[in-house]
Amino acid sequence: MSASSFALLGTGAYVPERVMTNEDMAKVVDTSDDWIFSRTGIKERRIAAEDEQTSDMATAAAKVALEDARLTPDQIDLLIVATLTPDLPMPSTACIVQAKLGLPHRAACFDVSAACSGFVYALDTAWAMLQSGRYRHALVIGAEKLSTVLDWSDRTTCVLFGDAAGAVVIGPTPEGSKAEIVGTKLYSEGENTELLWIPGGGSAHPAPGPDVPPRFMQMKGREVFKFAVREMEDAARDILEQCGVSADEVDCVVPHQANLRIIDSIAKFLKLPSDRFFVNLELYGNTSAASIPLAIDEARRSGRIKDGSLSLLVAFGAGLTYGSALVRW
Ligand code: ACO
Repeated sequence: MSASSFALLGTGAYVPERVMTNEDMAKVVDTSDDWIFSRTGIKERRIAAEDEQTSDMATAAAKVALEDARLTPDQIDLLIVATLTPDLPMPSTACIVQAKLGLPHRAACFDVSAACSGFVYALDTAWAMLQSGRYRHALVIGAEKLSTVLDWSDRTTCVLFGDAAGAVVIGPTPEGSKAEIVGTKLYSEGENTELLWIPGGGSAHPAPGPDVPPRFMQMKGREVFKFAVREMEDAARDILEQCGVSADEVDCVVPHQANLRIIDSIAKFLKLPSDRFFVNLELYGNTSAASIPLAIDEARRSGRIKDGSLSLLVAFGAGLTYGSALVRW
């Protein structure tokens, strides 16, 4: 069952119903719409209901992607969920989603942990597994319930993030189509873990207990900002070089939706006009692993990404990790 090329056959997304605006945020911490919007470009984010888990959002997004790809759950033999907010430490969220979607028992299901780069990591992994010839159709999902790992008294982090899920179906390029995954590239710098982390709750500091660091996200914002600009530029440049493509040939860049100022600096670096970038962080904030698939789905449904067009995906996140992918639709 080998195929020469694999393409993104369908996309889907899900966002929780509850909208939390910057004005709402200012009732929780000492902040303002002006501060948040001018520093980040974010206006509002979605917050999942208490009984709505990461796997529920992932399942909802996956159903839309399967429908878009015109495939049924029994045709999926590989499922990867990228998330830093799994439903449980064990088992994987992918196995929970498998049951909720009714995927066959022969499907391989597992989670990928690469924070905000998680979707690009999962895409690379799925593509390699499909290329091995041992799998035919993969579901790759980025899903996060970040509201559960935020310190709602820390204005330097809680204003930035939101909950969401996005999904893609990958399979053999249909006959007559030029769609394909052109290339992917992954990187990590493990010596900088403490710039962006959740220090408590893992095996190093199992919660709860005295002297246990918090199980909430902590970030050195300025350092992460500089890292994000430098490494997203590298990741974008490297993938273009690797695939022999010039920046100008890219129809739509879909960057990780963390901060508009970071995205603007990448646009400047690539010498591309800002309208070549798809940005929806104003409405959702940073949704980590869900950010790129959520944006891809919106870009496709709004006609911003058309069949035949070339997209550059570029992400960075905790780890520190970063990565990029080139996709022809
Ligand atoms: N509202 C009002 N004031 C605030 C807020 C807030 N929400 N947050 C911080 N401030 C204050 C600070 O206390 C500081 O005040 P001071 O000068 O009196 O000390 C001032 O604003 C400036 O703070 P900085 O941290 O220097 O602000 P900066 O301009 O660097 O912007 C930001 C902060 C938006 C976090 C920026 O550094 C950033 O975007 N960094 C990248 C973050 C990012 O993208 N993270 C995603 C990681 S992806 C993943 O894997 C999860």
